[in-house]
Amino acid sequence: MSTLWLVSDLHVTFPANRERVERLAPAEEGDWLIVAGDVAESIDIVVDTLARLRRRFARVVWCPGNHELFARPSDRYQGRARYARLIDLLREVGVDTPEDPYPVFGDVTVAPLFTLYDYSFRPAGRSAAEALIDARAARATLDDELYIAPYVDVVEWCAERVAYSRERLTAVDGPTLLVNHWPLAVEPTRRLRQPDMALWCGTTLTRSFARDYRAVGVVHGHLHMPEEIMVEGVPHVDVSLGYPFEQVHMPRRAWPMPGLRIP
Ligand SMILES: [Fe+2]
Repeated sequence: MSTLWLVSDLHVTFPANRERVERLAPAEEGDWLIVAGDVAESIDIVVDTLARLRRRFARVVWCPGNHELFARPSDRYQGRARYARLIDLLREVGVDTPEDPYPVFGDVTVAPLFTLYDYSFRPAGRSAAEALIDARAARATLDDELYIAPYVDVVEWCAERVAYSRERLTAVDGPTLLVNHWPLAVEPTRRLRQPDMALWCGTTLTRSFARDYRAVGVVHGHLHMPEEIMVEGVPHVDVSLGYPFEQVHMPRRAWPMPGLRIP
């Protein structure tokens, strides 16, 4: 048997998380590992971490989270150039990215996506600008506004990424496992203690992806609220490790989470 293991939000700059990731290992030869973003902020650390995992697992499939995109004014790679740089380096170490042919596990096409957020997970009747003002007033603004927004038009990039993903997925036959850092539907964000944070948690443009592309499941992270919920009959599962100080409050559960298994 081979197992496809699911993880996200490794945040390995925290020593306790780095230790857990160092212990990640296949149960059997041929096991795969899905990493749904937020490995770290530094490009070098992201690539080094995934390269080490790739030496242990038969296949490592990655998609970026918001933290991989975090940049400062002094950084050489920002915005789109940062994503392109990550793709180049991860290909060199044999990691599958959203820009590569989708790998197939058994008869399921594993599709790493990168669809970002566009402030559309917001209360009905509020514009994005109004919702952002509400979030600032509630002190619920995510760091993405400081470390991503200055370097790229996120709303425009999100729309482009959704169109690109649809084009790629339309060419796929048979069942899929959709992997994205951000939830593909709004329902998982309803569990957020601070509802305004949903602005940075996805886009309504991906709502029908699971149905349109015959998903057996949707794997995401970002919320740091590991749980599986059903949306229109499809399991959407948050496989975050999250920050050490959050883990003490998380329900006890298997991590990494076993996903698909094939003989
Ligand atoms: Fe995260």
